Amino acid sequence: MKMLLLLLASLTLVSWSCGENPGIQLTLTDRGLQTLRHFAAGLVQDQLDEVSFPDVRGSMWRILQYSLTGMQLVKCDLPEPSVHFSPGTSGLVLSLSGLCVALSGNWTTHWAFGDNSGGFELAVFDLSVSSSLKLDRDQCGRLSLSSLSCEAGVKALELQFHGKTSWVTKKLEKYLKTNLKDRIQRSICPWVEEAVSRLEQHLQAMNVSVPWTPVMNLQLPLTAPPDVHSKLINFGLKGEFLSVETQHQPPFVAPPFSLATPSNVMMSVGVSEYSLNSASFAYFDSGHLQTLLNDSMIPPSCPLRLNTSSWGPYIPQLPQMFPDLAMTLQVYARQFPNFSFEPGVVRLKLLSSAKASAVLKNSTVCPLFTLNLDSAVSVKLSVGDGKVKGLMRMDNFTLTLDSSEIGPFKTDALQNLAEAEAQCVVEKINVKLQEGFDLPQTKHMQLLNSVLTVEQGFIAFFSDAKLQSIF
Ligand SMILES: *[C@@H]1O[C@H](CO)[C@@H](O)[C@H](O)[C@H]1NC(C)=O
Ligand SMILES: *[C@@H]1O[C@H](CO)[C@@H](O)[C@H](O)[C@H]1NC(C)=O
Ligand SMILES: *[C@@H]1O[C@H](CO)[C@@H](O)[C@H](O)[C@H]1NC(C)=O
Ligand SMILES: *[C@@H]1O[C@H](CO)[C@@H](O)[C@H](O)[C@H]1NC(C)=O
Ligand SMILES: *[C@@H]1O[C@H](CO)[C@@H](O)[C@H](O)[C@H]1NC(C)=O
Ligand SMILES: *[C@@H]1O[C@H](CO)[C@@H](O)[C@H](O)[C@H]1NC(C)=O
Ligand SMILES: *[C@@H]1O[C@H](CO)[C@@H](O)[C@H](O)[C@H]1NC(C)=O
Repeated sequence: MKMLLLLLASLTLVSWSCGENPGIQLTLTDRGLQTLRHFAAGLVQDQLDEVSFPDVRGSMWRILQYSLTGMQLVKCDLPEPSVHFSPGTSGLVLSLSGLCVALSGNWTTHWAFGDNSGGFELAVFDLSVSSSLKLDRDQCGRLSLSSLSCEAGVKALELQFHGKTSWVTKKLEKYLKTNLKDRIQRSICPWVEEAVSRLEQHLQAMNVSVPWTPVMNLQLPLTAPPDVHSKLINFGLKGEFLSVETQHQPPFVAPPFSLATPSNVMMSVGVSEYSLNSASFAYFDSGHLQTLLNDSMIPPSCPLRLNTSSWGPYIPQLPQMFPDLAMTLQVYARQFPNFSFEPGVVRLKLLSSAKASAVLKNSTVCPLFTLNLDSAVSVKLSVGDGKVKGLMRMDNFTLTLDSSEIGPFKTDALQNLAEAEAQCVVEKINVKLQEGFDLPQTKHMQLLNSVLTVEQGFIAFFSDAKLQSIF
């Protein structure tokens, strides 16, 4: 139940607009559903020992009080429940049949003619329950769960009293056989509905905005009610990163994408380039894509230092106008970095600028010039041995002079130098990318046979999962 809660929780979260395309899609196939069901049945089986049964008290003929106390489970044959997607009712149908339970306990009777007591054995045969649940999306975009219908039955019930039995206890035995069967039958569906409404309360308490980094939250409301098919269920989630500070919506919309999930995998996740670009926009919009560099931050290997003498070979007039002064470089993105996904390749376009200033002896900062540095890189992704590996390539790098307070100068030599430095960075990144990254794993779920592919406009992740006990 806890696992199911966690799963459902991860699918829920707040939206303010309808009819938009999802940035993230989650699919659970029938194979995944059956794995969850099997896991949940195992959890229930493990917890059976801890189940306690309430005492039963009542009266027969209005004058004889009876009680059944200290009931303990002797045996329980718990058949695997069945669960399947129900496109017609936009939900799930859960059923269980053939549940048999044997209990033992003590009975007592009390009436004007004396008290009596003893032990008893109780067996419930072929208990069955079938429940239809509807999955929907509430106004806030959370997943909601409701019980559409429920049917329950008990085929037979056996009760045997031991101890000082008499004609009265025989009568009581007979009376209770029918009475208990009825009571049990009538209490199953209310119990199921109670469990569903408890689950629904948990869902209603979920946040659709998940803190992701100190800079941004991930918005995960459903964009539409879950799409239920006979062999899978698909959840469309907004999947938008929003700056904590500015709360500005990205100035672009999510294009549609379709995640085709083969039925032989348990689940899949599709993340569109929209999601990644919304993260990029959140960082850009809240002013996090900029930094002020000074010489101590430039790697020692770099031949060009942040002092005016060092720039002489590239800008002859600079050391003449500002001899031997320290410099700073304000580097910032002019636009949010643009990610795009194409089959097998992730592309990134980065338009940035670097504003150079000289730091005068009296600490006054004097602007010198601004360069535009525009680059395009692509990363080819490959997956193997449970790792994602990549190979980055610099596709384009251009350096141009945007403005200058010290007069014009040629940028060819600077372009060559900057490009060589950028290549160095790419090579360093490639060392990491070639080592590879492990595919995500969580504590309670081991991902198996995972496949990650880059498609047109989105990244698709297919996986099987092995669930581990959460107790
Ligand atoms: C049931 O009765 C037996 C015998 O009278 C007694 O030993 C036992 O403790 C009782 N069990 C409970 C749970 O009351
Ligand atoms: C939801 O968010 C609110 C405030 O942001 C927080 O107080 C609350 O604990 C969160 N609830 C859950 C279930 O995470
Ligand atoms: C460079 O910047 C860092 C961090 O802003 C600062 O601690 C350091 O003192 C600066 N170094 C120089 C030489 O200005
Ligand atoms: C500037 O860099 C040169 C080496 O390129 C170095 O000799 C000089 O001391 C530096 N000047 C300042 C002010 O840091
Ligand atoms: C990113 O660049 C591509 C190609 O130039 C363009 O089609 C797309 O609209 C851009 N995305 C955003 C969010 O600006
Ligand atoms: C710093 O020195 C420059 C030129 O040497 C001068 O123009 C500027 O006013 C000075 N700034 C301060 C705050 O003294
Ligand atoms: C590199 O970028 C510049 C400016 O963005 C563009 O004019 C040029 O065509 C690009 N070159 C290649 C090979 O894509």
